Amino acid sequence: MALTRGIVPFCFKVIKVVPITLQTHNIHRWVAPTLMELKRREKKLGGKKTNPRNTFAEWNLEAELYAFGKRLNEEFNYDTLLQAFTDRSYVVQEEMKQKEMAIDINLKDNKELAEQGEQFIKEYVQVYLETVLPKFPVDGVTSITKNLTNEETLSHISLHLGTKDIILAAEYPVDNYILANTFKAIVGALLQSSGKERTAHFVRDFVITQLQGQDVNEYWPIDDPWSMLTEILRKDGVTIEPRLIGDVGKNTLLACYRVGLYINKKMISSGFGETAATAKEMAAREALKKVFGTEDHMKPINFQLEGIPKPNENNIYQISAS
Ligand SMILES: *[C@@H]1O[C@H](CO)[C@@H](O)[C@H](O)[C@H]1NC(C)=O
Repeated sequence: MALTRGIVPFCFKVIKVVPITLQTHNIHRWVAPTLMELKRREKKLGGKKTNPRNTFAEWNLEAELYAFGKRLNEEFNYDTLLQAFTDRSYVVQEEMKQKEMAIDINLKDNKELAEQGEQFIKEYVQVYLETVLPKFPVDGVTSITKNLTNEETLSHISLHLGTKDIILAAEYPVDNYILANTFKAIVGALLQSSGKERTAHFVRDFVITQLQGQDVNEYWPIDDPWSMLTEILRKDGVTIEPRLIGDVGKNTLLACYRVGLYINKKMISSGFGETAATAKEMAAREALKKVFGTEDHMKPINFQLEGIPKPNENNIYQISAS
């Protein structure tokens, strides 16, 4: 017989051997052993579950967490990963339920893991970018790091990793703060489970690659490019000279000026604008990109650095914010 396991065939068998006429009479004889058997099986499964929906969710969760790690090709410690997915709001909610039922299960939220993860992400992204953009000023790199590690960017990454349906929170759908925080906590969990190098490569592959196809200059607004350029060149003992090299439609609405910047009579950049001043500013921006090694035709950023780069102490152009 195929149905040899489980509760249904067990009852079925017993009922079947009891003749119909004797059923009411003999009922106590089989009810007790059946209940005892049910109790025994229940115990084997870990005792009575007060909240079957939750229990079910938890069993699913274990599989989900396992699949999550596998999908990312990472090894996580199960408990740590579970904690990474546990938002504070969930813990508060559960503690209230537990108080009502007078039980006490220690649930830990992801606050600490998120803090560890965040610190690691910020430090690593910063040194990574300083290394692959060696001539870009530190302030500029910091500006990119800020963008890559802000709530919006990290929540976007988190969403694409499929965290949304696994996160334990009091309310759904979860907001960007929780999504971003969970991502940070996952990084924290990976740090604890697999160490720094593995975690660094994870952050590289999911966070730093967000720069793919982007113009890094756009992450760092420069208010006064002319002053910045002359300041940098002055430190190097170089003087730069702007020259008007073209104007079309002077004194009309469609006026267009072209200004070239010269060092030792050699033009290093040029810019267009509706006025000579904006043309000069554009030319200065172009010149700065050359100085920073971030021109449009720059070599693409290396997204494959191994290990954790050492902090770059000899960044050439340390420009103060002033
Ligand atoms: C910075 O990040 C935000 C959010 O991820 C994005 O929308 C924005 O375009 C980024 N800024 C720049 C200059 O790329």
